[in-house]
Amino acid sequence: MTLSPDAANDTQAVSRTPLRLAAIGDLHVGENMERPYRELFSKISQEADVLALCGDLTNFGKTPEAEILAEDLRACTIPVVGVLGNHDYECGQPDEVARILHEAGLKLLDGEAYEIEGVGFAGCKGFIGGFGRGMLSAFGEPAIKAFVQASVDENLKLESSLRMLRTERIVVITHYSPVQDTVEGEPPEIFAFLGSARLGETIDRFEGVTCALHGHAHRGSYEGRTTGGVPVYNVARPLLNRDLGIEYALLEV
Ligand SMILES: [Fe+2]
Ligand SMILES: [Fe+2]
Repeated sequence: MTLSPDAANDTQAVSRTPLRLAAIGDLHVGENMERPYRELFSKISQEADVLALCGDLTNFGKTPEAEILAEDLRACTIPVVGVLGNHDYECGQPDEVARILHEAGLKLLDGEAYEIEGVGFAGCKGFIGGFGRGMLSAFGEPAIKAFVQASVDENLKLESSLRMLRTERIVVITHYSPVQDTVEGEPPEIFAFLGSARLGETIDRFEGVTCALHGHAHRGSYEGRTTGGVPVYNVARPLLNRDLGIEYALLEV
């Protein structure tokens, strides 16, 4: 198909229209909660074009918790894209949690990629491992090597999801932090358990990453940057509530 000059201009105009992206992590839905996010999701649907969920969607990864969140997700009339967090693995059935949320419309990123209204979304849960000189390396006992390999494997998922995208703008979603900046505020002794610099290095290897979103560090900081200058936002819900007095982050990408 050949595009007329006007049509080509229209296509460019659409691709440059800012996308209003709402983001929250760490919903921690418990099995005794009643419609915990229904009202919020319908409000977000009025104010944003896409909702990003940055993991710890449930408290313990239980089926009833996932079902409660799934019911609330049905109040969302905009696309929802997200990742699981460590809490969603606690009961040993992350695939079941993922299935229930997927059936409610969540586009789950676990190495996959989605394009929504001209913006690419890449991501995965990520893993721990630390930052800078504090980053654990694969040396010594098999247990240490297996631990580091889990971090490398998650990073490979992020890399393959980024490779799938051809969009000019890309948003990266993880649960664990890709940089140290946004875990500042937590006790330094646990920085290594809050994210991995490997994720940040991967983000910097790709063109067009507009921003990276994560959760997990409830007592961290809202804003940071990768070494290459990509803005990183920690949208853990307790942090947004406490430090910014907001229920969700709203970004233009
Ligand atoms: Fe959390
Ligand atoms: Fe977490």
